[in-house]
Amino acid sequence: MSDLRQAEYPVLPFIVSRWSRRAMLPEPVANDELMSLFEAARWAPSSYNCQPWRFIFAHRGSPQWDTMFGLLDELNRQWCINAGVLMILVSRTRYEYNGKQDRSCALNAGAAWENLALQGTSMGLAVRGMQDFDYERARTEFGIPSLYDVQMMIAVGRPGNRESLPERLQGRETPTQRKPVSEIAFENGLPEDYDSAGSMAD
Ligand SMILES: Cc1cc2nc3c(=O)[nH]c(=O)nc-3n(C[C@H](O)[C@H](O)[C@H](O)COP(=O)(O)O)c2cc1C
Repeated sequence: MSDLRQAEYPVLPFIVSRWSRRAMLPEPVANDELMSLFEAARWAPSSYNCQPWRFIFAHRGSPQWDTMFGLLDELNRQWCINAGVLMILVSRTRYEYNGKQDRSCALNAGAAWENLALQGTSMGLAVRGMQDFDYERARTEFGIPSLYDVQMMIAVGRPGNRESLPERLQGRETPTQRKPVSEIAFENGLPEDYDSAGSMAD
């Protein structure tokens, strides 16, 4: 477990030690390694076992990587430049078995993403999710059908030194903290007049 992160209650250590690095070495990630990440994603739970997640990925050096990189906002570009692989995670919005809307398709894709992130971390890779990119252009550039929602992008690479990051990101290259359990779990219902004010910024 990281010195910087303390669990309040006993928990599997790798859950706490995963964190999203931005600093990456400009080195490739092998396809075999990547397949282990997708293998982990594959075993995520989903409603009716519908497995709505689909990962579109590109290795640095390919034209598709350039296209994906071009979807990112300016800040994400600053650190993703060294990522070995970029991905777009999309999820099928309707069940394959009956065509009905899957209200939990984003949630299911999120479970797959976390599996992937935990697996990558266990293999010594840097894995960070992203939402600051052009969702609509992701759809058009990669021909994503309307049946699929674009959920997030993911950068995977080899961990690098924080000094390699632009100065404004160096201070943020550290594990984040979390709300206490008492602020996220409520026995028998939410407190009266509950609102969600006071959430932590990144
Ligand atoms: C769906 C999603 C979108 C995110 N978008 C971005 C992003 O655009 N840029 C970025 O640098 N980090 C992004 N992050 C990383 C979060 O800021 C990070 O996961 C959060 O601060 C918790 O830190 P940790 O992952 O190190 O525990 C995103 C994470 C998720 C899960």
